[in-house]
Amino acid sequence: MSRIVEIGDDLTRAADEINRGQLVAMPTETVYGLAANALNPLAVARIFEAKQRPEFDPLIVHIASYDSLELIAKNIPEIARKLMDQFWPGPLTLVFPKTEAVPDLVTSGLNTVAVRMPDHPLALQLIRDARCPLAAPSANLFGRTSPTTAQHVADQLGDRLAYILDGGPCKVGIESTIISIENERLSLLRPGGITIEQLQDVLGPGTIEIPNFDTTSEEHPVAPGQLKEHYAPLTPLIIQQQLIRPDRGQRIGLLTLQLPEASHQNMPETFETIEELSATGDLTEAASNFFAAIRRLDAENLDLILATPFPSHGLGLALNDRLNRAAHR
Ligand code: TXA
Ligand code: MG
Repeated sequence: MSRIVEIGDDLTRAADEINRGQLVAMPTETVYGLAANALNPLAVARIFEAKQRPEFDPLIVHIASYDSLELIAKNIPEIARKLMDQFWPGPLTLVFPKTEAVPDLVTSGLNTVAVRMPDHPLALQLIRDARCPLAAPSANLFGRTSPTTAQHVADQLGDRLAYILDGGPCKVGIESTIISIENERLSLLRPGGITIEQLQDVLGPGTIEIPNFDTTSEEHPVAPGQLKEHYAPLTPLIIQQQLIRPDRGQRIGLLTLQLPEASHQNMPETFETIEELSATGDLTEAASNFFAAIRRLDAENLDLILATPFPSHGLGLALNDRLNRAAHR
């Protein structure tokens, strides 16, 4: 029988486990992370083992102070300072040249390191109490739906963790935006919790290279490992621009931003379950519900999940990216 992992808000316990080289699930504003001491290669190796994650997929290092940034990253340009001033702590990850202090396993042998300062009081306090930066991928099995509650983590990884630090449901709900900065050149590696519009407000238009994230094409530049991120439910998921009434007899769930007014009456008969992510069509609310809604649908033993795409502005870019990957087979 698998061991039942403890869930709680005991920071001392969590920091002790980190310092013993163990794994602790920590809440962040985006999704729960599977955290280990980023400077301890043995502890970092446990992350890959627990997630069943390929070792060529580098990890994000979480910090709570700018001193730690200097410890792990170098050649930080002025433009990056501007972004950090504006968006840290928050859902923005920046990729910098790494220092010797960062073990190769963290960066999969790359000479760059991805860094962010999470906007969650428990995450920041854990990093301070443990007195080390924390390497943390999302706390799900590789390729599966990201966790936005402590219970999601316990369900999937409960038998592989020392402790789950419970900080409640994640308020952003989708992962951080990842930007690489090379010689003052910025490119978007993953759309996420900070929108392109927000970044452009700070940097001016045209400063960031933005590949087309509306396709699942494998040609555009992405963060290494991103191609393999599928956020996949076990139930097949299909995206439909225009909802076509499904065959009777099949058990079908619907995942949609907002139900059209007129459809409120007949929809419930057509679908076994409906997950409307925001009754007012608000993308921020939708993002915070997205992964939990996919999990609920996946738990219903449906034949199929139908999903409608999000508008392609603001957080819609990140939501469509996750949705396309969840549908990718
Ligand atoms: O919001 C988040 O970013 C969450 C929370 C826990 O902080 N973390 C997260 O980690 O989403 P993960 O491991 O699921 O995704 C991190 C992605 C990797 O797939 C990889 O593509 C990219 O970050 N990455 C990490 N290091 C990189 C590097 N040196 N260069 C380019 N991309 C990198
Ligand atoms: Mg992930």
